[in-house]
Amino acid sequence: MRKVIIAGNWKMYKTQGEATEFLMEFSSQIDDAPEDREVVLCVPFTDLTTVSKSLHGNRIRLGAQNVHWEECGAYTGEISASMLTEVGVRYVIVGHSERRQYFGETDETVNMRLKAAQASGLIPILCVGETKQQRDAGIAEKVIINQLNNGLIGVSQAKLVIAYEPIWAIGTGETCESAEANRVIGVIRAQLTNPDVTIQYGGSVKPSNIAEIMAQPHIDGVLVGGASLAATDFAGIVNYK
Ligand code: PGA
Repeated sequence: MRKVIIAGNWKMYKTQGEATEFLMEFSSQIDDAPEDREVVLCVPFTDLTTVSKSLHGNRIRLGAQNVHWEECGAYTGEISASMLTEVGVRYVIVGHSERRQYFGETDETVNMRLKAAQASGLIPILCVGETKQQRDAGIAEKVIINQLNNGLIGVSQAKLVIAYEPIWAIGTGETCESAEANRVIGVIRAQLTNPDVTIQYGGSVKPSNIAEIMAQPHIDGVLVGGASLAATDFAGIVNYK
């Protein structure tokens, strides 16, 4: 059975005070969402402890936005899997396009991060997706298949989430048409050996397009950036009909 996972990615937004305020508003708005929907918040490192405490007894799962492949060491600015699990993190985003684009993340480092996450019991959310240029050149599928082939070497498909995030649809307001996102996610699914892997769509998801996206047969959830920052918007997404 594929699990429905609605995840927010706060990126580099929200101080601890703002995170607490968000949770107070958000938690009360998702009480009626179906139980089988997993709700995840991937927050900045400094928010993890605060959010973890406020999630106690609540249905929200805690997520981080990166993890290093070593257990410890001289890696300034990085964070290890055990540092994350210690504060209650369950999910971690790996290989987000912003990490690939601005911080030199490669399929090889993505692969190492995925393996380290799984070895510590974290569930990685592997992000894949093509640029506008690659789409226009007709190589979108090839790019994505490459990212999967290289990223998933030696990675278990038992505890894994994949997010298809066309880069041209991230933060642009330009959503990938849901039928097209469904088609690409079908291509991704065909590359996998485990039929139960949850595959999300990400890129300008909002309360107004969530129902249409989730109605697609291959799409099992969403990874939400901008619209996860406002409690009412993210609740509107979690509560889709
Ligand atoms: P967006 O971001 O929802 O703001 O487009 C999605 C993402 O980067 O995961």
